[in-house]
Amino acid sequence: MSDLLEPMLDLARRALANAHAPYSGFRVGACVRAASGRLYAGCNVENVSSGLTQCAETTAIGSMVAAGDREIAEVVVLTERAALCPPCGRCRQQLAEFARPQLPIHLCGLQGVRLTTTLGELLPLAFGPGALERTDP
Ligand code: THU
Repeated sequence: MSDLLEPMLDLARRALANAHAPYSGFRVGACVRAASGRLYAGCNVENVSSGLTQCAETTAIGSMVAAGDREIAEVVVLTERAALCPPCGRCRQQLAEFARPQLPIHLCGLQGVRLTTTLGELLPLAFGPGALERTDP
C-alpha cells in the first residue's frame, strides 16, 4: 500500500461525484497510480444505449494512456453502496494490459479501503501477449 493511497481515495471520491449513472444509479469512482507516481481518476459513463456504458476503471486507464504513462502500480475502485465493486471482467483484462499480476487493487467505500486483492487473484490464467507468439514455421 503506497503513501499515495489517501490522495487516490480523494480523487476517486471526486470522480464518483461526477459519475454519469442515470440508468443504474450505481456511481463508481476509480483511481490508478502509474509507476511514475502520477494519479489518474475516472468515473463510469453510462449511455442510454446500455451496451456502450464505460466503467470507471476504463475512464481512468484511458486518461493514463493519453498522458503517456503505460504501467499501473496500484488501483482504487470506490462505490458509495454497501456492496463492493470488484472490477468487471472487461476491466480486469484492461488492467492486465498495463500491470503485473501482483498489482494491488483496493476495493473501497467512501470511508476507505474495505478489501485489498490483486490482479492475479481476480484474473488467473490471464490471456497475455505470449498467446499471440507464433511458433509455427
Ligand atoms: N461499473 C464500473 O464502473 N466498474 C466496474 O468494474 C463494474 C461496473 C459501472 C458500470 C455501470 O455504469 C454501473 O457500474 C452498473 O453496472
